[in-house]
Amino acid sequence: MKAYETLAPYYDRFMSFLNYEEEAIPIGKYITATGAKRVLDLGAGSGGHLIPLLEQGFTIDALDISESMLQILQDKLKSRGLAATCICDDMCRYLSQAAYDFLYAFGDTVHHLANQDAFLAFLRCCHRNLSEGGSLAFTWRERDYFEDMAELGSFYEQHGTDYLLWAVDYESRNNKATIDYTAFICGGDGRFDKIEECHPLQVYTEDEIYLAAKQTGFAFRDDLAEDYFKTERDADEYRQIALLKKI
Ligand SMILES: C[S@@+](CC[C@H](N)C(=O)[O-])C[C@H]1O[C@@H](n2cnc3c(N)ncnc32)[C@H](O)[C@@H]1O
Repeated sequence: MKAYETLAPYYDRFMSFLNYEEEAIPIGKYITATGAKRVLDLGAGSGGHLIPLLEQGFTIDALDISESMLQILQDKLKSRGLAATCICDDMCRYLSQAAYDFLYAFGDTVHHLANQDAFLAFLRCCHRNLSEGGSLAFTWRERDYFEDMAELGSFYEQHGTDYLLWAVDYESRNNKATIDYTAFICGGDGRFDKIEECHPLQVYTEDEIYLAAKQTGFAFRDDLAEDYFKTERDADEYRQIALLKKI
């Protein structure tokens, strides 16, 4: 079972603690400041960042590997009278007909890449699809986040009448984490449906990200990340934002 296929219909409900409108503000400011014309949301999911940006008048394409997540996004676009080109593809392999000026992968999507080779493939693919001087921004979480989550072991959250059980494991030896989700969805008649999904995650160090960016023809723009995405970094002690420029 592919990641997000089972979880997709419940994703928005389980992520309702996130403030996507606020997270989308610096993305919009960055697009405006750089004058980026062609923009692509990588791992767009159900459109958490994309939809507020489309509502502000930006034109942005969306790419996701999960048909189920894209279907949810398309339904949401339709019901809000919005439009975006939606591409079902792997962000490590897709090939765009025309170059993009700005690519972003928010929501820590890079942790879904299977290993360091897949991360390099992702960066090479982004490099190939970017215009000269174009940029790529992605969020990622420090190793401490996975360590601290694993220390918690299992915990549950209540979302309305539904329950979501998280079980996090972290293996420092090979920089892998796993999140096992078990959800109990209330059917309305007091009965619960159980759904399960496991996400194997790749954990990175800052050095690995710097080295991989350098190897694939990117320059780090920490100065710009600080200017545009500081508030996001400050809002979450574990969150990092990498802002890379194609060189
Ligand atoms: C954590 S969710 C983030 C979704 C959205 N960006 C957000 O912040 O709510 C990760 C998304 O990335 C997608 N994804 C994972 N691996 C991918 C890949 N290799 N190529 C494209 N999308 C991928 C998943 O299907 C999922 O929708």
